[in-house]
Amino acid sequence: MSERLRVHVDPEKCQGHARCKALAPELFELDEYGNAHEAGDGAVPPGLEDKAWLAKANCPEIAIDVIEE
Ligand code: F3S
Repeated sequence: MSERLRVHVDPEKCQGHARCKALAPELFELDEYGNAHEAGDGAVPPGLEDKAWLAKANCPEIAIDVIEE
């Protein structure tokens, strides 16, 4: 049984760099100001786990959490 991941963007930290959206467009959405939030409830579909970790690693503001459930 593989782990289930969930992504979360801290809106206090996000400054709209949009690297998350570029790297993992399935997992993040941008609002009208260019700030990101997790798509849906943040659940990472099977096969997209690497993209979740990649987005977390590439956010300059360290705004992305990947939660292992
Ligand atoms: Fe925000 Fe980081 Fe994405 S600053 S737009 S969560 S890359």
